[in-house]
Amino acid sequence: MKVRIWDLPVRIGHWLLAASVAIAWLTAEQEAWRLVHIVAGATAGAMVLFRLLWGFVGSRSARFGAFLRGPAAAIAEARAHLAGRAEPRATHTVVGGWAAIGLLALALGAATTGVLTYRFDEFEALAEIHEALAEGLLALIAVHLAGVLVMSLLERQNLPRSMLTGRANAAPAAEVRAHPLAALTLLAWCAAAVWLLLRWLNLPG
Ligand code: HEM
Repeated sequence: MKVRIWDLPVRIGHWLLAASVAIAWLTAEQEAWRLVHIVAGATAGAMVLFRLLWGFVGSRSARFGAFLRGPAAAIAEARAHLAGRAEPRATHTVVGGWAAIGLLALALGAATTGVLTYRFDEFEALAEIHEALAEGLLALIAVHLAGVLVMSLLERQNLPRSMLTGRANAAPAAEVRAHPLAALTLLAWCAAAVWLLLRWLNLPG
């Protein structure tokens, strides 16, 4: 049965993060696109800060406590899949949950060091750390996309579409509320954070 397992802040946040990381990556090398790069990176950083809070106060499926489990749970989950007896899940898989944390951490790290690199350009090491974090993020995104494809095939459902519509095969008890107000708060917070940052960096905004 299809039920809503992803609320709006998770879904809007996900696609906002994916789009801003893609834009930041495309504009990383050219000086002429520096402002766009900074806005995209700052949007990604602000989104992650919101997501960290939402991981404690958000819907059941969004809470870190719901999907962060140890290696034993990951092995049990993999065995259930291999034996073809995996139950429909109501949140991330164990491995997917840790990948999500890695993606959020690298995105926040890249955004923070990016701001510091721009603000304190006398410290060259900052730029190198920024680049290393961005490369690590790209590598993990490649793993993430491969994981989404494998799990879509194993679970015989279109997981990218679930991240758009919120709906996936799950038990009725897994249903969560949409939380449109929280999603609006996320968008307003990202806009405000970018504006404040541009002012701090003396950039037009
Ligand atoms: C810059 C690129 C991307 C980044 C940084 C990223 C990051 C993330 C993060 C952090 C999560 C966890 C969501 C949460 O709990 O809030 C997630 C989940 C997910 N992402 Fe991405 N993502 C990216 C691109 C994509 C793309 C292009 C697709 C579709 C092809 C995709 C499909 C998914 C799906 C389906 C999930 C949920 C997985 C599950 O069912 O557990 N992501 N992603």
